[in-house]
Amino acid sequence: MKVVAFNGSSRKDGNTAILLNYVLDELKKEEIETEFIQLSGETLSGCIACYRCAENKDQRCAVVKDKVNEYIGKMQGSQGVLLAVANLCLGHDSQYESPHRAEFDRLS
Ligand SMILES: Cc1cc2nc3c(=O)[nH]c(=O)nc-3n(C[C@H](O)[C@H](O)[C@H](O)COP(=O)(O)O)c2cc1C
Repeated sequence: MKVVAFNGSSRKDGNTAILLNYVLDELKKEEIETEFIQLSGETLSGCIACYRCAENKDQRCAVVKDKVNEYIGKMQGSQGVLLAVANLCLGHDSQYESPHRAEFDRLS
C-alpha cells in the first residue's frame, strides 16, 4: 500500500509540511509506503475548464506544460492521497489565496 501527500503551501517545510509529516510518520509505522511532494516554488496552472479530459477519457490533463500529469500518475499509483494547503486570509476568494489550492482541482 502507498500513500502520496502533496504540500500546496508556499512555505516549504512550514506548518503544513509538519502536519502532513505527522500523518506520514504514523503510516510509516504501519509499514505503509509514503511519498511527500512539496509544490512550493513550482508553477502549476489551475483548471481551465477545457473539458478535454472528459472527451479524451484518458485520465490525463490536456494541459501538458507542467507537472500535473506526473502527479496524477503518482496518485494513480497510490491507494491514499493527502492534499494540504495553508489557510491564507479567510479562504477561497482572497487575494492571499494559497497559490496551489487551484491546482488541486486538476488533480482531483
Ligand atoms: C497572509 C496570511 C494570511 C493568513 N490568513 C489566515 C486565515 O484567514 N485563517 C487562518 O486560520 N489562518 C490564516 N493564516 C495562518 C496560516 O494559515 C498558518 O500560519 C499556516 O500554518 C501557514 O502554513 P505554512 O507554514 O505551511 O505556510 C494566514 C497566514 C498568512 C501568512
